[in-house]
Amino acid sequence: MDQREAPLVAALAAYRERGLLPFHTPGHKGGRAAPPPLDTLWGPGLWQMDLTEVPGLDDLHAPRGAIKRAQELAARAFGAEESFFLVNGSSAGIMAMLGAVCNPGDEIIVPRNCHRSVTAGLILSGAVPVYLPPPVLPSFGIPLGIRARDVEEALEKHPRAKAVLVVTPSYYGICSDLAPIASAAHSRDIPLLVDGAHGPHLGFHPALPAGALAAGADLVVHSTHKVLTSLTQSSLLHRQGRRIDRERLAHMLRLVQTSSPSYLLMASLDACRRQLALEGRMLLDRLLALAREVRERIGTLPGLAVLGPEDLCRDFALDPTRLTVNVQGAGFGGPEAAAFLREQGVQPEMADPANVVFILTVGDDAATAEGLVGALAALAAARKPGRGSRKVPEALPLPPLRLPPREAVFAPRERVPLARARNRIAGEEIVPYPPGIPLLNPGEEITPEVIEAFAELRAAGVEFQGLADPAGAEIAVLKL
Ligand SMILES: Cc1ncc(COP(=O)(O)O)c(C=O)c1O
Repeated sequence: MDQREAPLVAALAAYRERGLLPFHTPGHKGGRAAPPPLDTLWGPGLWQMDLTEVPGLDDLHAPRGAIKRAQELAARAFGAEESFFLVNGSSAGIMAMLGAVCNPGDEIIVPRNCHRSVTAGLILSGAVPVYLPPPVLPSFGIPLGIRARDVEEALEKHPRAKAVLVVTPSYYGICSDLAPIASAAHSRDIPLLVDGAHGPHLGFHPALPAGALAAGADLVVHSTHKVLTSLTQSSLLHRQGRRIDRERLAHMLRLVQTSSPSYLLMASLDACRRQLALEGRMLLDRLLALAREVRERIGTLPGLAVLGPEDLCRDFALDPTRLTVNVQGAGFGGPEAAAFLREQGVQPEMADPANVVFILTVGDDAATAEGLVGALAALAAARKPGRGSRKVPEALPLPPLRLPPREAVFAPRERVPLARARNRIAGEEIVPYPPGIPLLNPGEEITPEVIEAFAELRAAGVEFQGLADPAGAEIAVLKL
């Protein structure tokens, strides 16, 4: 296969070239009725390529032409047997993965620090989670990854589990050692599903940790939009091996993806794959050199600590392009530091109570690196004496699961003040966002620890998703 091709991009360009009168969707008709100011802000090329399933442009849900070929090229580039374009982010891929391997009532091993799309997959599939609490790195107050021995132990206790799901890399760039986890799952003939939303670049450079497919994962999602160069919301789902029923997977994808997939998103996936296949090694060489330099310079700033491989034990590796900077030594909390950095012209990816996280990608260069180091130097200079020894936040609590998430979501409920919700069963989730890792999921007991952790996170300035009451004073609980 020739990775210089970009069949979907070519098909869109050819369609535009033909100049057919478009008596079909979308209603803006190639930009003729594009609403101002986006008509000029976006330019004609973008509007003209926002097309739909007309002859020559194939159909995502029954691909036979340009999309099929583009997906095959992606599979080849990423080392999968088959790849699927996702137009609703990795979230859709994760929901489809769970639906493809779990029936209602089936157990699945999942780390507790999984993204809320895993909860959505549990609700849609009816699967029951067996949560693995990840070990915590005390110096940064962040979850580490999952170890093979934890998975082995969980599989001993839950021999009927239908799959193992691992999140790697984490939001903080921490990578679990997947090969022994894959062996543990495969020795019981169950699949390993990997939420690799943050890792589509892994495996494309020898200095990066190995990719999930090379380690033997059966299904992997990649948010190419997060760290590579496709448009926001576009992602990939990869499959390999005989443990996944590919027809059922394709069916699940039809359930969770729109019937009007955006050709802009899909074309960006095609072009992103081409760029990665042709220039990935060179671009990543440059990025890794930049990341090394930035890490070294931030490491010299007083009061700031950058998460490095030396902070991790041998069980875990680190994606060097992800920068987690602990700001507590400078007397700041994460959200407070993030606000300070915004004033300096730098927008981080996220902040937790102790850390600020930055994503470096092939879109960075010496100028953006300089801007980041300069803003962090200003933060270090604004150090608040006497506030340097704050408590590092503990791991999030793991409340007992009293009802499978699906049953909890459909059960009768009432709203009560959070302070009076103690020991009730949650009907909705509480999710600090970012990173989108649930503090509480539907079906879980609202323990005093959950109420306390929620109050602490709020006080630290963390934002939340999930609760219908934005003030967080009330929560939906089950009427049981
Ligand atoms: C670990 C993890 N998994 C999955 C997702 C969902 O990815 P997407 O935004 O592509 O739907 C995210 C998004 O932040 C994430 O952090």
